[in-house]
Amino acid sequence: MNEYIIITGGAGYIGSHTIAEILLKTNYQVISIDNFSNSYEFVYENLFQLTHKKIISINLDLCNKQKLFEQIEPYHKKIAGIIHFAAFKSVPESVEKPLMYYHNNITSLLNIIELAIHFNIPNFIFSSSCSVYGDIKSSPVTENTPLPQPISPYAHTKQIGEQILDQLIHLSNPPLKIFALRYFNPVGSHPSGLIGELPKYNLTGLVPNIIRAALHKIPVLQVFGNDYNTKDGTPIRDYIHVSDIAYAHVLALQKLQTKSSSSFFDVINLGTGKGFTVLEVIKTFENINQIKVPYQIVGRRHGDVEAIYANNDKALQEIGWKPEYSLEDMLKTAWKWGKERY
Ligand code: WQD
Repeated sequence: MNEYIIITGGAGYIGSHTIAEILLKTNYQVISIDNFSNSYEFVYENLFQLTHKKIISINLDLCNKQKLFEQIEPYHKKIAGIIHFAAFKSVPESVEKPLMYYHNNITSLLNIIELAIHFNIPNFIFSSSCSVYGDIKSSPVTENTPLPQPISPYAHTKQIGEQILDQLIHLSNPPLKIFALRYFNPVGSHPSGLIGELPKYNLTGLVPNIIRAALHKIPVLQVFGNDYNTKDGTPIRDYIHVSDIAYAHVLALQKLQTKSSSSFFDVINLGTGKGFTVLEVIKTFENINQIKVPYQIVGRRHGDVEAIYANNDKALQEIGWKPEYSLEDMLKTAWKWGKERY
């Protein structure tokens, strides 16, 4: 029988796309741990339609350590690695409810890493975020940029998560081999149209809002500020197709397995290396999908950074990863999903 990969948050946006890549491109089986607090169970049925492979679903809050250990016990000898996505991820919500974010994101990380140590599962991937770079003043940003004061409790949980893991590798016996992958702005959906971004709460990103404005689900897209120091005055981000991000996890896992058994921790940026302004994204969306997006310039959104995009050289060097999808692909697949689901 094949080995298992544990995916936490497997019903979520990046988690579900990563399950698809693992099932379609490797021989691993998947154990997904998700309590559907911000995702839907039907995602697993759609993953089955897409891959014709069944996953093992464990409906569990990772903060419940005892249940976590009990539920994984039966499989523990056959687990090759853990990919830890499950976390709260809304920046504004984290500002409103900081303790909820610290408690959930840190406790669940501590429990899952304790599980890895307890059952001797050496290979571990942690979902990190470009938000760890805070209000960065120059891009492209490389992984060795010193991390500044975090600008939200959410970003802080990602910084703390990385730091805990970096410390643990020196202290843990058995050894742990860990990549923290820093995602830039994941958008788009699987080209099949079967999975995509569909949280129960906090669907507030630029691309989902563009789709909702195009569908007239909201009266207009609010563009938060056009007085930034960029070519058209709107902020610059590094939008990256979610399937490119998902595939990077397969490569990272394979790389961890080829590494010797001594402990290891490293961080890798996952971005395209290209920055686009908000207005460029809107225009590209309109052109590729042949639909108008009603929008209105409003004031700046608190906490927004002017411009950030990745230097992604390290991803190529370390795990052989290069993004394949263009901005057009991202916005076309996002529309295919969103017009049916939002
Ligand atoms: C992008 C741009 C907005 C909505 C967030 C997290 C970050 C990471 C990625 C997880 C900004 C503008 C947006 C709208 C707008 N997530 N915008 N109107 O804030 O760059 O990053 O997701 O790790 O940590 O902070 O993404 O999509 O919200 O915004 O004008 O209705 O679009 O001001 O310039 P953000 P976003």
